[in-house]
Formats: sequence, C-alpha cells, structure tokens
Amino acid sequence: MKHFISIAEHSREFLLQTLETAQRLKKQLKETGHNDPIFKDKTAVLIFEKPSLRTRVSFTQAMLQCGGNAIVLTGDEVGLGKREPAKDVARVLSGMCDLIVARVFEHQKLLEMRQYASVPVINALSDYSHPCQAMADMLTLQEHFHRLEGLTLTYIGDGNNVARSLAVACGKMGLRFVCCTPAGYELPADDMDRIMAQVPGMDFEISGNPQDAVRQADAIYTDTWTSMGQESEKQKRIRDFQGFQINAELMKHAPERCVILHCLPAYRGLEITDDVIESPRSLVFPQAENRLHFQKALIAELMGIT
Ligand code: CP
Ligand code: NVA
Repeated sequence: MKHFISIAEHSREFLLQTLETAQRLKKQLKETGHNDPIFKDKTAVLIFEKPSLRTRVSFTQAMLQCGGNAIVLTGDEVGLGKREPAKDVARVLSGMCDLIVARVFEHQKLLEMRQYASVPVINALSDYSHPCQAMADMLTLQEHFHRLEGLTLTYIGDGNNVARSLAVACGKMGLRFVCCTPAGYELPADDMDRIMAQVPGMDFEISGNPQDAVRQADAIYTDTWTSMGQESEKQKRIRDFQGFQINAELMKHAPERCVILHCLPAYRGLEITDDVIESPRSLVFPQAENRLHFQKALIAELMGIT
C-alpha cells in the first residue's frame, strides 16, 4: 500500500514519474478539455481540520475531472481523536472509500491513519509538513526552467511545514535549498538532522540575511509568517519578521532570471508586497493551478492507475 505522508518516503524515481504523469494529464486536459475517466468508480474522502481553498478544490476537481467522486468533511465534523480515534476513522473509511486525504493539526494523526488504513492516505498539510504543495511547486519550476537539477530555491520566512517539505523536495530533485529565517524561526535542529539523513548530501544552506540569500536564487519562495493554529502569535511574529519581506528592494539583489513563488494564501504587505506578487516574475497563480495537475497524478500513481 502506497501512501503520501512525506516526500522522503518516496524514491526520486517515483517522484519524477509523478511529475511526468502530472505534465501528461495537464496536457491532455488543456488540449482536449477533459481527462480520461481513470478514477471511474473511485471515491476519495477528504478530511479538513483546518481551512483550505487550493487543496480542497484541487483534490475534489482531480477526482471529478477523472470520473471519480469526492466526499469532503470539514472542521470538527469527523472529530479525529475526539469523537473517535484516528485509527477507527481510517478503518471505517477504508471499508467505504478508495483514498483518504487529510489536513490535520497534529501530524501524528496522519501516521496513525496510515498504520490502520487499507487504502492510500495523503497528507494534505499538517503542522509538520505540506508535501503535496512542495511537489506541485517542483512541477511549476520544471515547467518554467525545463529542468530542476542545479536550480537554487531560496525560501525566506518561517521555518515551518512548507519549508520542511520544500527542503526535502529540493534534496530529492537535485536543487540547492537556501533557507533564510529570522533568529528563533529556523527549522529546528532535529528537523535539520532528519532532513539531512533522509536526503544525504543535499545542498542545504542556512541564512539569516535575505539580501545574501537571494543573490544566486532562481526562485524566491515565501509563505505566511503565521500558520494556521498560530494566530495568537501574529503580532509578535510581525515584529520578529521585519526585514524578511519579499519586496521590490529585496528583488534588486536577485538575478534577472529569478521567479517568485508563494503557496498562498498571501498576506500582502506582510511577507510579500502587492507589487511583487503581481509582477511578471511572479508564478504564484500558475503555481496554484499546478496543485490540481499534481494531485491528479499523485492519486493515479498511488492507486497504480496510469
Ligand atoms: N497552499 C495551500 O495549501 O492552500 P490552501 O490552504 O488554501 O489549501
Ligand atoms: N504554513 C501555512 C501554509 C498554508 C497553506 C499554514 O500551515 O497555515
């Protein structure tokens, strides 16, 4: 049984194959207006403990455009670990559906579901990681630069779930990853050790200086300073992240070729300015669209339908 809880648990070959399938399914949809019904008679159940626009719509559309069904359960409706244990939810859903996609507060709940499910479980974001986002971002970079190996991705912002998944995605796909955070918001040392053990020899640079960090960047990436679940820290974070905004001044230090990525939702005026996100260098909307194409490919590869 194949799951997608983390990028690290998959081989480079599997990840490259999934990117190739994503490109193929995207091309088919663009050229013909539809996809083959490869998910006919398949139903995905999507559990969202936190809000979502892109992830929810992309997984739902991925199933529907390929002839399958999606059932969406939000908020406290399921009550993972409260109304009933995650291990029970996993077994109940495995008896009725073909795929479980879950966005959870605690990563541990995904691990528990994976252990007990007899259908694939996909991590749709947890406090620890956001692997679907990072791999869809690899698709966006691959389309733009026609390669991944040797590119430099500079992440500026919080050492959070998105940063962790990007680090592993870059390691697996052969990109150099520069992680630039304010003091106190670095990726924790044990996460760094885990990532280096998962992708030995990856080119991983730590920085505390945004101007230096973007100097060799092919892509600059940022995410909200305050992730879902951290709302009470917002004002402190705004103070602590001063100087780490992606703005026109910072872009002067980046090469001409450098593009802008943001997983969205973006808080204009905080981690990124409106002019940068709306500039010709910004790929954020094609990046958001690629969530759909990657999701479709991931489901197909996990289910062995290609
Ligand atoms: N980037 C992303 O995962 O967006 P949503 O939270 O809207 O799903
Ligand atoms: N780091 C953000 C990502 C949102 C897609 C969060 O967890 O809220």
